[in-house]
Amino acid sequence: MSVVEYQGVMKSFGHVEVIHGIDLLVNEGEFMVFVGPSGCGKSTMLRMTAGLETITEGTLLIDGQVMNDATPVRRGVAMVFQNYALYPNMTVRQNMAFGLEQARVPKPEIRKAVDEAARTLKIEDLLNRRPGQLSGGQSQRVAIGRAIVRNPGIFLFDEPLSNLDAELRVHMRVELGRLHERLGKTMIYVTHDQVEAMTMADRIAVFNTGRIEQVGSPLDLYNNPVNLFVAGFIGSPRMNFVSGPVEHGAQGCTIQALAQAIAIPLDLDAGGSTLSVGVRPEHLEIVAPDAGDLAATVELTEQLGSETFVYCSLGDDEPWVVKSLGQVFRRAGERVGLRIPWDQAHFFGADGKRLSGRAHVGSITPENDGGLPRRRSEDAADGCPR
Ligand SMILES: Nc1ncnc2c1ncn2[C@@H]1O[C@H](COP(=O)(O)OP(=O)(O)OP(=O)(O)O)[C@@H](O)[C@H]1O
Ligand SMILES: [Mg+2]
Repeated sequence: MSVVEYQGVMKSFGHVEVIHGIDLLVNEGEFMVFVGPSGCGKSTMLRMTAGLETITEGTLLIDGQVMNDATPVRRGVAMVFQNYALYPNMTVRQNMAFGLEQARVPKPEIRKAVDEAARTLKIEDLLNRRPGQLSGGQSQRVAIGRAIVRNPGIFLFDEPLSNLDAELRVHMRVELGRLHERLGKTMIYVTHDQVEAMTMADRIAVFNTGRIEQVGSPLDLYNNPVNLFVAGFIGSPRMNFVSGPVEHGAQGCTIQALAQAIAIPLDLDAGGSTLSVGVRPEHLEIVAPDAGDLAATVELTEQLGSETFVYCSLGDDEPWVVKSLGQVFRRAGERVGLRIPWDQAHFFGADGKRLSGRAHVGSITPENDGGLPRRRSEDAADGCPR
């Protein structure tokens, strides 16, 4: 049993409010990932959940019980920190046993719990070493082991893998996934890593300046971001954007941006004078200079072996990135066209909120007027704001 519920949770440090009223339910056994830019309040949320930081306003419920003022032990939570926070003068065994000793658990029980956790994490050989004699990955395991022995209902992880090298991160990511499956415990996990968020999460909560922008499954956020912020935050390389004043015509609408007129064969009502278009790098296609929806110049090509990123300048600061499978060769300075598959594009109004997108793909039909897809008039009631 370990359901975590935040009701209107706020946090101020002095007069500065940094968490502005969070409502969120983390289900029993769920792997919830918190993502968001630096300083948006992810660690503060975890620390309030663990009881390391007071809650200024609102309610934290664990299994329906108000826990605002409960001790960390009563909450049944254990937190794993980015810097591991191991005691340097204690052995690994002593580090892992420390919490249970404080709770006056009988010695034989402590020994059994530590041995079991060490087996789970494959650190039996390290139990007599001190933290200074461990590698980063081993230290991280010990920190996780210290949480496991306390048998908490809820695990809180604050960027636990960020100090590890790339290979070890992948390894530990898989191991943590296995651990979650095996223990079936509720886990709240903070990360900056897109791959960790996408692959580990049951659901992701995207934070921005002390608020949640969207909560959903990884693919839900990827495919249907509710606003420009989430669209730009989820996905790596990030979504390409262009925005500008919109004009409506018989063939759809046109936005004026980057010294070109970009024709969008859809009748979209941006709800204002500005429309933003977002296109994921993998949806773009490089075509002949005059055959695309956008004219661009190749700036740089990054060959990753199995895929290629081509950075294309559109005259703006931010280049557009085209992701292609396999090895694609493009010369810097080459003029190209970028084709946008309009049924995969994302549209956002002047207020940054989503207008329509992949959910509406079925309502966009190609017509035989120059090959441009057009929105059917009877699809006006498909939920897309007009
Ligand atoms: N003890 C404190 N006193 C004053 N301000 C604080 C304190 N702890 C955090 N803050 C502020 O609260 C805000 C949220 O901080 P927090 O550490 O939760 O961000 P974060 O999302 O975890 O960032 P990062 O990704 O960099 O770890 C920041 O503006 C930070 O400066
Ligand atoms: Mg943090």
